[in-house]
Amino acid sequence: MYYSDELIEEIRTKSDIANVISGYVKLQKKGANYWGCCPFHNEKTPSFSVSENKQMYHCFGCGVSGNVYTFLMKYENYTFPEAVKELAHRVGVDLPEVEYTEEQKARADKKARLLEINKEAAKFFFYQLRSPHGENGYNYLKKRELTDETMQKFGLGYAEKNGNNLIQYLINKGFPENLIIEAGLANHSERSGVNSLFWNRVMFPIQDANHRVIGFGGRVMGDGEPKYLNSPETPVFDKRRNLFGLNFARTARSGDMILCEGYMDVISMHQAGFTQAVASLGTAFTAEQAHILHRYTDTVLLAYDSDGAGVKAALRAIGLLRDEGMTGKVINMRPYKDPDEFMKNLGREAFEERIRDAENSFFFEIRMLETQFDTKDPEGKTKFHREIARKLCEFEEDVERDNYLQAVAEKYYIGVENLRKLVFNYATQTGAAKPLERPRNTNQAKATPEENGKKAQRLLLTWISDDADIYPKIKSYISLDDFTDELYKSVAGKLFESIERNEFSPAAIISSFQDEEGQAQAAELFNTNLPEEISGEDKEQAIHDIIMTVKKSSYEYYMSKTGTDINALMLAIERKKALETLQKTHISLT
Ligand code: UTP
Ligand code: MN
Repeated sequence: MYYSDELIEEIRTKSDIANVISGYVKLQKKGANYWGCCPFHNEKTPSFSVSENKQMYHCFGCGVSGNVYTFLMKYENYTFPEAVKELAHRVGVDLPEVEYTEEQKARADKKARLLEINKEAAKFFFYQLRSPHGENGYNYLKKRELTDETMQKFGLGYAEKNGNNLIQYLINKGFPENLIIEAGLANHSERSGVNSLFWNRVMFPIQDANHRVIGFGGRVMGDGEPKYLNSPETPVFDKRRNLFGLNFARTARSGDMILCEGYMDVISMHQAGFTQAVASLGTAFTAEQAHILHRYTDTVLLAYDSDGAGVKAALRAIGLLRDEGMTGKVINMRPYKDPDEFMKNLGREAFEERIRDAENSFFFEIRMLETQFDTKDPEGKTKFHREIARKLCEFEEDVERDNYLQAVAEKYYIGVENLRKLVFNYATQTGAAKPLERPRNTNQAKATPEENGKKAQRLLLTWISDDADIYPKIKSYISLDDFTDELYKSVAGKLFESIERNEFSPAAIISSFQDEEGQAQAAELFNTNLPEEISGEDKEQAIHDIIMTVKKSSYEYYMSKTGTDINALMLAIERKKALETLQKTHISLT
């Protein structure tokens, strides 16, 4: 949906950022700004600031910044249109009706109906569990040491022996049989008509990130096949793109996510306080799920079963996490089978220790690899070392590969140079990775002149956005062409124009970018770290220096671009002259 800039601005100006954020973060006013603990990283002392003047937030700890829209996008995981919609609702602005095609309308209606029917079914199961009919189910869950509170939180339920009570209930609520079948709650056969899919099982509603029931898992009580029966995929139940427990885990903010295999594992973990636990939906972990987790964290702790199947699944997940650019770590569950049993036997603190000791996924992979070879035999040992070399080639970055190479060499008593040679041979034979000839210089590259120039441009923009009165005093010294990056130039243009119009508002500029990346980059420009508490002559000097750097880098930039173009050369020469004049000029801010 496209909303006009005017409308986006109207909604934004009607919502006060400090007011909105204080619904999520405890804020305290100190000086001109509000302060609180950053909701986007773990911290104990507040470094998250909200400026009423700028209508922006900025964290001095982790560097995030933005306006009221980007806050909601980040915190609630909304898209931009969703954030607009939410705020419009809060401040009472009517949004234009969206024009859908007939087909889109029908599809949206269908999904809405399926969600309603799931919700009703979940309610039915929920009440069954707590009624005399549900005694077996309730006792089963109690025996598995779930508290009433946990059952409530996860909305657990029970499907009684006579499954057709559910169908009757749904029909009475006005849902037609074909919709009940399409929701995956019943099937139809020539012989016996419409029958409930779930009966005599404890029911685990599966919710999407927004707490909407999209499907069910049902577990038999005791032994029986299948142990878990899951809803089939439906228009609202996409098993590749949802995770059990994510509706709670997404706000856990523990800095990581714990990936388990089973629903019961997730529930036990949450009951023990590890609310960052999630599981895939009776299917193998997918690349899409890795991508979803990446929105919330860089680190996934794998709490898979300790049996052979669990190890295999963990190895697969590690690969997917690596492809997604995330860190995987493996939690050792032994001597227990899964997190649920671990928690019952050893409890929370022991598990915390296991989290601290979680194994780097690369070493886990190597350790599992080792079991496939007879390393007592020289032949087997060589093969094992070759396999290590092959795995090392999966690291694309030289520094990272060499760091792992050294670590694994030490751990398995392999000569570093020998292992390097093996990697080199393997890489050149297969072209798998750039050959690792010698360790590269690991020093960070020095900032280029272009980088320094851009940094000065950012500082200048932050300074003006903090204190718009600076602008009239310095505007004769700078031009938009001094901003050598297209985004910077566009932001500077908007900022200067808004000050000229007396409508100064950095927050408005941020949401004039519709894509998230543009918004984030624009926000960054207004939140470069400035020297603290600087005033008077010092401030004048600092700004003078920044403008000098901006001018100098733009001069160099245009010089490098001139080539044989005589006009460009003239421009560059003019810049040089202006620079020399500026050097001798005193910029007064008073
Ligand atoms: P497990 O067999 O490890 O079950 O399956 P569990 O989580 O330990 O369950 P409890 O403790 O015996 O109750 C792990 C997950 O695999 C899926 C389910 O999602 C389950 O949570 N699964 C398992 C099925 O979908 N169907 C099955 O028949 C078995
Ligand atoms: Mn289990």
